[in-house]
Amino acid sequence: MAHVISIANQKGGVGKTTTAINLAAALAASELRVLLIDSDPQGNSTSGVGVSKHEDRRTIYDVLLRQAPAEHAVTDTEFGMSLLPADQNLVATNLDLVDQEERESRLKTALASLLEKYDYILIDCPPALDLLTLNAFVASDTVLVPIQCEFFALEGISQLMDTIDRTKKAFNPNLGIEGVLLTMYDDRTNLTRQVETDLRDFFGTQVFQTVIPRSVKLAEAPSFGKTILAYDPRSRGAEAYIQLAKEILANAQRARTESAQSVG
Ligand SMILES: Nc1ncnc2c1ncn2[C@@H]1O[C@H](COP(=O)(O)OP(=O)(O)OP(=O)(O)O)[C@@H](O)[C@H]1O
Ligand SMILES: [Mg+2]
Repeated sequence: MAHVISIANQKGGVGKTTTAINLAAALAASELRVLLIDSDPQGNSTSGVGVSKHEDRRTIYDVLLRQAPAEHAVTDTEFGMSLLPADQNLVATNLDLVDQEERESRLKTALASLLEKYDYILIDCPPALDLLTLNAFVASDTVLVPIQCEFFALEGISQLMDTIDRTKKAFNPNLGIEGVLLTMYDDRTNLTRQVETDLRDFFGTQVFQTVIPRSVKLAEAPSFGKTILAYDPRSRGAEAYIQLAKEILANAQRARTESAQSVG
């Protein structure tokens, strides 16, 4: 049964897509079956793994609004994971969904038939708390929140947590936090260290031990349509995402052990 993770922060440019692509690649490199879902009209996860946004292929738009089966829109990538791509049509999705039935649970319904086929499903959300993000939260087990180490890091976070809480109450009582991920981390600056201290005080153990360094290689890779593991497997960025995958797998193992103990 797939574990479904939304990668979300309504703030733009904090590393959602970079994390979605490279965490997907790192999990796939551990022999896991991984599906990456691009739920952002910008389509950066789609182009970032070398899949054209302009070809006449089925996308998440067809799944959400034209009742196309999700498996018909899933395509392979060169990097071990499958992709449910986005395209520009998705720009209109919020408006197109507003007056539809079950507008919040379209993605959940569509993914039901895929849950047995994958170990992990990662959803790259748009920089907005809109219907696309709400569909992702309703379909997910957990939310992973990337936060850029900068001065206004916590801005908007209470609104995000509030949206997660309201989604739990209204649609998905088991929705949890996968973790808070510090991105674009530069340990040479006092600011990064100060932001890290603040975030670890605020979120406690919900913050991943792994941090993602600021790295030119991570920023370059998508322009070649490659994951960091394919572009430069020895880079610090590649190492960091492999480490993050290990931390997530270890957390999942610990949760399984704890729930087995509480049952037994
Ligand atoms: N660790 C990093 N080091 C250096 N640059 C990075 C890093 N992570 C992301 N970037 C760059 O920062 C920019 C924003 O990253 P990304 O696209 O992953 O953020 P996002 O949250 O998905 O943005 P959006 O909200 O627009 O979807 C991109 O140009 C990306 O290449
Ligand atoms: Mg993005």
